[in-house]
Amino acid sequence: MKKLTEITASNRDAWDASAAAFEDRAEWHDMIRSLKEGGFSTFDQTMTQTLQDIGIAGRRAVQIGCNNGRELLSLPSLGAIPVLGIDVSEAFLAQARTLADLAGSECQFLCSDIYDLPDDMPGDFELGLITIGVLNWMPDLVRFFEIVAGLLSANASLVIYESHPVMEMFDPDAKDPFNPFRSYFDKTPMTWSETITYDGTPGKPGPTSYWFTHGLGEIVTACSKAGLVIERLSEYAHSNREVDYDIYEGRTAQIPMSFTLVARKSP
Ligand SMILES: C[S@@+](CC[C@H](N)C(=O)[O-])C[C@H]1O[C@@H](n2cnc3c(N)ncnc32)[C@H](O)[C@@H]1O
Repeated sequence: MKKLTEITASNRDAWDASAAAFEDRAEWHDMIRSLKEGGFSTFDQTMTQTLQDIGIAGRRAVQIGCNNGRELLSLPSLGAIPVLGIDVSEAFLAQARTLADLAGSECQFLCSDIYDLPDDMPGDFELGLITIGVLNWMPDLVRFFEIVAGLLSANASLVIYESHPVMEMFDPDAKDPFNPFRSYFDKTPMTWSETITYDGTPGKPGPTSYWFTHGLGEIVTACSKAGLVIERLSEYAHSNREVDYDIYEGRTAQIPMSFTLVARKSP
């Protein structure tokens, strides 16, 4: 097994190699247009409602795995203040800085492996965000949540909106996509050696990336061990990941497809 730092460095290379293609997509140009118009938000109804229920107005926020910053820059629409985005991919953070400039936002972006943050990181954020496709890049979930908890002030909220771990049992491109192809409990990382597209289109040959599957119990337990008190865990029948997974929506025997978890940092 490779060392954690080798894995996260390889994932970084895969994300960096993937960034340029995102600027060719309609979504990128839509964001630029929308940022110029004002009232920008890419949050869906689930995330918007979850954040409204907590009441995030005036809170200073950090996002871990912020990618191009689109979600941080959506926070002002709900009254919160985007302060820091952390991501291992400099190429995506360059896009985040472009978007932040367009938004007139003072949000800062730090390029760092979350497992190797600078020693002088602040620990006073009042809101932490982890969304859509971050937890699966983390080889060590317990250490990950310890680090995340260290960024938060006492009583701060952590909001997670992720794809449901049950989705890892299914492959929409398989011959029989409704037949589970993988055990929920399989801990072997999935690997790809191509760029990451997540719009259903194939990637180009690229650095190897490592995707880790963590059960819901492991996610909740890792949060608890880090002193994050679970306030709400909600499972949903809708997908928040690549469009090819939409085939699992709206079925009679419905599987859970996404979840939100709201936790509070213990005082
Ligand atoms: C799927 S993207 C997040 C997308 C974002 N939630 C959105 O919807 O716009 C996952 C991000 O996690 C970042 N990432 C992966 N491993 C990381 C690590 N070890 N430390 C920090 N960021 C990491 C990647 O660079 C990537 O930008």
